[in-house]
Amino acid sequence: MKEKLSLIASNALEEIRRAKSSSELDNIRVKYLGRKGELTGILKELRNLPVEIRAETGKLGNEVKSSIEKALDEKISYLKEIEKQEKFNKDILDISLPGRALRLGKRHPVTQTLDEVTSVFLRLGFHIEEGPEAELDYYNFEALNIPKDHPARDMQDTFYIFDEVLLRTHTSPVQIRTYLKQKPPVQIIAPGKVYRRDADISHLPMFHQVEGFHVDEGITFADLKGTLETFIHKMFGSEVGLRFRPSFFPFTEPSAEVDIACVICKGKGCRICKNTGWIEILGCGMVDPDVFKRVGYNDEKYTGYAFGMGIERITMLRYQIDDIRLFFENDMKFLTQF
Ligand code: PHE
Repeated sequence: MKEKLSLIASNALEEIRRAKSSSELDNIRVKYLGRKGELTGILKELRNLPVEIRAETGKLGNEVKSSIEKALDEKISYLKEIEKQEKFNKDILDISLPGRALRLGKRHPVTQTLDEVTSVFLRLGFHIEEGPEAELDYYNFEALNIPKDHPARDMQDTFYIFDEVLLRTHTSPVQIRTYLKQKPPVQIIAPGKVYRRDADISHLPMFHQVEGFHVDEGITFADLKGTLETFIHKMFGSEVGLRFRPSFFPFTEPSAEVDIACVICKGKGCRICKNTGWIEILGCGMVDPDVFKRVGYNDEKYTGYAFGMGIERITMLRYQIDDIRLFFENDMKFLTQF
């Protein structure tokens, strides 16, 4: 029995010494100390021994048991330490790696211009109104004196959704919507997206406009001129040359277009201004009394002006960009310059 015990002791200790993982140690523990383990089995047999040697052998058995337990515990904490070290070495952070720089977003150049235009007019006493991009034919055309046979209504120029519903081709329908729900005085700007069947270096199927209109008693063309001059000087600097040129819109009478001296050649004549020295930036005029009649305004009592401008066009002039398509190609190299 004693030999068996010391054999178990030396086997167990040797196996523990060789064990390389805590799961191996678990197996060893079961093998010797488990309920059906080798040492457990022997200790159970003790009671069959003659009394004279039972105590002595029992003592030896307990010693073997505690020495195996001790060896197991020591080896376990040793392995745990090693495993911890290995995990640490594997997960170690390389603090010499350069960090990834955060790229700050920027507002789109068209949005920047839109915000600037809006803020100039807000300071001049205008309020903001918005209208839907999918618009009724009536508001986009009919109510603005654009009759059924007008070329602007052609399928070639306008995106129709249904017979009487289209993507608005300008922001002027916001005039009608506002006149219908508000009595004068109205002093509004209406920024937003508009759509036309067009695509080349200076036209896109979608672009932005800002509409402005002021209706009250005694509003004259001089108010229109003063307002637009102030606006253009704020946007392009007070030195920029500008002129009002007679024009035609079905819903204004008289009508004009405003040109500024070409920002590229300063009026000398170049490719951008087609050698005229001038660039058109907006359309405007005095609201036609027929429009007022249709929305129930007293056209004897009230007069008003209206204007509309393209925001991409203004942005191109301010930053001297010669291809409108650049705005919507999402090229970060282009967009982050502004
Ligand atoms: N709606 C016109 C256009 O898109 C511009 C305009 C607005 C002209 C208001 C006169 C008055 O071309």
